[in-house]
Amino acid sequence: MAGNYTLTIVKPDAFGAGKAGKIIAHLEGQGFKVLAARVLHMSQAEAGEFYAVHKERPFYGSLVSFMTSGPCMPMVLEKADAVAALRAAIGATDPAEAADGTVRKLFAESKERNAIHASDSDENAQREATFFFATTEILRAR
Ligand code: CMP
Repeated sequence: MAGNYTLTIVKPDAFGAGKAGKIIAHLEGQGFKVLAARVLHMSQAEAGEFYAVHKERPFYGSLVSFMTSGPCMPMVLEKADAVAALRAAIGATDPAEAADGTVRKLFAESKERNAIHASDSDENAQREATFFFATTEILRAR
């Protein structure tokens, strides 16, 4: 499956606003297949660990507060060259800079409350997928 899957999260802003279904439909329309999905409300410790790479950034505390402000929806998505394909589909971090037709342009509020997360490498896709899902929970292509 390496190279063909990535991890996304419909973040608390979008999930709380009832946009998860539209975001999933948008991504399915672009050929992404959902291999695993769940709804959960992350603890401070979980969000802090997930975003540990940003620990020294000035926005880290605010990011952890935001990501624990309500339920979110992590999913493992499959598509050829999934990491690059999903990053192109979601657009720039700041929705004001995101291209037309991208998830963040369509559904995000701000640079922090930006609707969706996507892994930035195959290595992180694996780390992030196993952060949220047991291997047995990830549908295998048949
Ligand atoms: P994500 O792709 O999940 O990766 C890290 C997150 O930190 C990012 O989306 C935004 O939600 C947030 N983020 C990144 N840069 C900034 C910033 N300059 N100010 C506030 N939040 C940010």
